[in-house]
Amino acid sequence: MNSEYWQKYYADKKPQKPSPFAKFCRRRIPKESIIIDMAAGDMRDTEYLAEVGSCIPVEPNNEEVHCKALSGLGRLRPDILYARWFFHAIDEEEEDRVLAWCAERRVDIMAEYRIIGDKPDDTHTRRLIDPEVFLKKLEAKGYEVKYYATGRGFSKVRGDDPLLARVFAKSKRR
Ligand SMILES: C[S@@+](CC[C@H](N)C(=O)[O-])C[C@H]1O[C@@H](n2cnc3c(N)ncnc32)[C@H](O)[C@@H]1O
Repeated sequence: MNSEYWQKYYADKKPQKPSPFAKFCRRRIPKESIIIDMAAGDMRDTEYLAEVGSCIPVEPNNEEVHCKALSGLGRLRPDILYARWFFHAIDEEEEDRVLAWCAERRVDIMAEYRIIGDKPDDTHTRRLIDPEVFLKKLEAKGYEVKYYATGRGFSKVRGDDPLLARVFAKSKRR
């Protein structure tokens, strides 16, 4: 899972401001929600999202984050899994495990990820996602897609303007 890459990345980096995706999501999250910041990285979005409810970071590659995996959450049943730039950083098996974890607990999903057509990167895992396949998986797992958009301009980083998808998926079983 590229642990070395991400550990070095965060060790060398100054804290970042909340991401554009966090700003986009925050005003759409109901107050008092329990949110998981999945693959929180340096926790740039965690505190910001905690302003609307409680937000628990899950991150295996940052020593400061107590919860390294979803399995560490015990019986907690969150309302929302927030995942910025997570799904393209893992392989498809891990993606399926996380989606199954959410579906079993009826956890809504807010995600932003790189899609086919964006630039590959050979320094670490960047699995460009087929957005149609991802939506079909969500629907098959009992989700209703409430918001979906793809394009550039969502999140420019140091001269890079990645091709991304944004999705809000609500568990129909909730
Ligand atoms: C592109 S970074 C995104 C970080 C943060 N969400 C952000 O937007 O700044 C991808 C993150 O996925 C994390 N990651 C990789 N594999 C993971 C896994 N199996 N479970 C949880 N996090 C993982 C990495 O450690 C890294 O922090």
